[in-house]
Amino acid sequence: MKKYAVGVVGATGMVGQRFVTLLENHPWFQLTAVAASARSAGKTYADAVGPRWAMGTPMPEEAKNLVVMDAEADKEKMAAAVDFIFCAVDMKKDEIRALEEAYAKLECPVVSNNSAHRWTEDVPMVIPEVNPEHIKVIDDQRKRLGTSRGFIAVKSNCSIQSYAPALHPLREFGIEKVLVCTYQAISGAGKTFETWPEMVDNLIPYIGGEEEKSEKEPLKVWGTVENGKIVSATSPSITAQCLRVPVSDGHTAAVFVSFEKKPTEEEIKTIWKNFQGRAQELNLPSAPKQFLQYFEEPDRPQAKLDRDLEGGMAVTLGRLRPDTQYDYKFVGLSHNTLRGAAGGAVLLAELLCAENYILPR
Ligand SMILES: NC(=O)c1ccc[n+]([C@@H]2O[C@H](COP(=O)([O-])OP(=O)(O)OC[C@H]3O[C@@H](n4cnc5c(N)ncnc54)[C@H](OP(=O)(O)O)[C@@H]3O)[C@@H](O)[C@H]2O)c1
Repeated sequence: MKKYAVGVVGATGMVGQRFVTLLENHPWFQLTAVAASARSAGKTYADAVGPRWAMGTPMPEEAKNLVVMDAEADKEKMAAAVDFIFCAVDMKKDEIRALEEAYAKLECPVVSNNSAHRWTEDVPMVIPEVNPEHIKVIDDQRKRLGTSRGFIAVKSNCSIQSYAPALHPLREFGIEKVLVCTYQAISGAGKTFETWPEMVDNLIPYIGGEEEKSEKEPLKVWGTVENGKIVSATSPSITAQCLRVPVSDGHTAAVFVSFEKKPTEEEIKTIWKNFQGRAQELNLPSAPKQFLQYFEEPDRPQAKLDRDLEGGMAVTLGRLRPDTQYDYKFVGLSHNTLRGAAGGAVLLAELLCAENYILPR
């Protein structure tokens, strides 16, 4: 099979490095171009990243000698060189919106890790196991943009991936309300303990904008496509507190949930065990075999032990038990830069290819 030629915009950053790592030996995708800011443009990828390389594995050989393009000034060249791009840049929101739309209008599909377009009505925000049907809104987005190939699809915020997937198959019981506290890793801020030593032996009870995203984004993901737009679900009501904790990778969520029709604990565990999404049905290369994995041990899931399960693409759960104020409480964990960022975007790109929304040129 001919591989899709893939570009990474923001390739030198934390999420960009994850993309570069995940694309090494990918069965469908070949990294052929990288772009970042004007600061990195013209250098080889190895020189542009230098000591910023933060992955646990060495920089892939295929990336080292690629010459970094300027994401803005070289966008025509970048768009022409690839079948689609992944985008993960640290810029102002309006600049990101304009940049991603410019690539889409150059007929280059954009699979984005950024939040800038998450609330654009005809941009699908997709967790492939949860709302794969939302990608059909791309037909309407293309009409608006006047494109035949180009479009933008985004993944949701990393925090919601530690609890929304677990709640999703329980929606048949009518979820009334959810309270969630997230304990989020420092890589979610693009940091390591070396670059953020203040986080050692610390907890910061504030992550700008995160609580609003954690409360609102699940409702878009559970929304429906109506008249060329995604209309958010109106329930459940979700309240969230998001804390930064001294963990390198892996966001944990403590979740409290009440239902209209309360299921039993056994029913919930059976539903989690048997849940299969479109990503599993299509056997996508990055799809975990068992998406929701429940631990009976009372001290699991743990970030250090469990975040890497199934290549960091599984969501691990534990401690399901009755609560005094809600029906149940439980704990969820997902790898924030794999399932929650680059891995989730690679899986979304695989879905878009398998469903013929991205075709090789
Ligand atoms: N880290 C996570 O877990 C996570 C999770 C979900 C979403 N996100 C989102 O993903 C995006 C990237 O996050 P990150 O943690 O990877 O950030 P990061 O490590 O700071 O990397 C930022 C990237 O953006 C590039 N960039 C900065 N200014 C630019 C410009 N004017 N034009 C083109 N490229 C520019 C940088 O290039 P240079 O190296 O040349 O400066 C670098 O490649 C952000 O929108 C973030 O909110 C991150």
